[in-house]
Amino acid sequence: MASIPPEAAAARCRIEIDKLRKGFLASGNEGDREVVAVDDASFRINDGEFVALLGPSGCGKSTILNMVATLIAPSGGAIKVDGAPVTFGKPERHVGYVFQKDTLFPWRTVEDNIGYALELAGVPSGERRGRVAEAIHQAGLDGFARFYPASLSGGMRQRVSLMRTLIANPEILLMDEPFGALDTHTKLDMHSVLLDLWERQRQTVLFVTHDLGEALTLADRIILLSARPGRVKQDFRVDFARPRDAVALRETRQYAELFSRIWHSLGEEFTKSRNA
Ligand SMILES: Nc1ncnc2c1ncn2[C@@H]1O[C@H](COP(=O)(O)OP(=O)(O)O)[C@@H](O)[C@H]1O
Ligand SMILES: [Mg+2]
Repeated sequence: MASIPPEAAAARCRIEIDKLRKGFLASGNEGDREVVAVDDASFRINDGEFVALLGPSGCGKSTILNMVATLIAPSGGAIKVDGAPVTFGKPERHVGYVFQKDTLFPWRTVEDNIGYALELAGVPSGERRGRVAEAIHQAGLDGFARFYPASLSGGMRQRVSLMRTLIANPEILLMDEPFGALDTHTKLDMHSVLLDLWERQRQTVLFVTHDLGEALTLADRIILLSARPGRVKQDFRVDFARPRDAVALRETRQYAELFSRIWHSLGEEFTKSRNA
């Protein structure tokens, strides 16, 4: 029987963060001072892993994500994507980003928003129409192709945002609290949509959230950050079976057990950030 060579068995590292640091200059009436948002943060994400970056508000989650996305330059440390250092202002082609605020173009219809990246890439209109129609269907938006964002609900707009990024087939997906503004049930609905889409493609995901329930529902691993300056406090494996049912999962004992293990540790960081 042929054995698997060790190099094939070893998981491929897609994102590598090493001793990352970011200080911002904050101005006040007593002069400028440096606010250290992230300090000495290190972690690695392997191919196909869904990782949640969890921590209290203000601990540096978005700052880390924006450095990986090359939107912000680090003050120290290193970021590698697929083994190569990233360059500030030069996003990798195969990395997609979904923002918290929906950034849809209000003057474009659902289908024209979703197809935007393909238009930029010069994909011929026949192929574009087919891929957009498929994306609209996958997101459960059939019948809304010609609507403008203003006439959609918040959940529907986030579905459009998600598909607008996914249509370019990013292998690596960065998401910054994309469902943070949605009510509880719409959020659960979006978890089902995202889980369903991710099961098909198994992108490598770095998903920022302050919501432990959301992290447990979606991720394979939860990286818990400390209060500011953000560094890795703990790294938890979430080994619930897949495919997952976003609603039923929350009623299981495993979910409750892992929730309470992480909740206490997260609570300590909330307290620190409140008293900072
Ligand atoms: N552009 C900026 N200028 C100055 N301070 C900033 C800037 N962006 C973020 N910060 C500060 O860095 C810290 C971390 O922010 P952020 O990464 O947005 O946290 P999170 O996403 O975890 O809520 C906060 O104290 C915030 O005020
Ligand atoms: Mg943030």
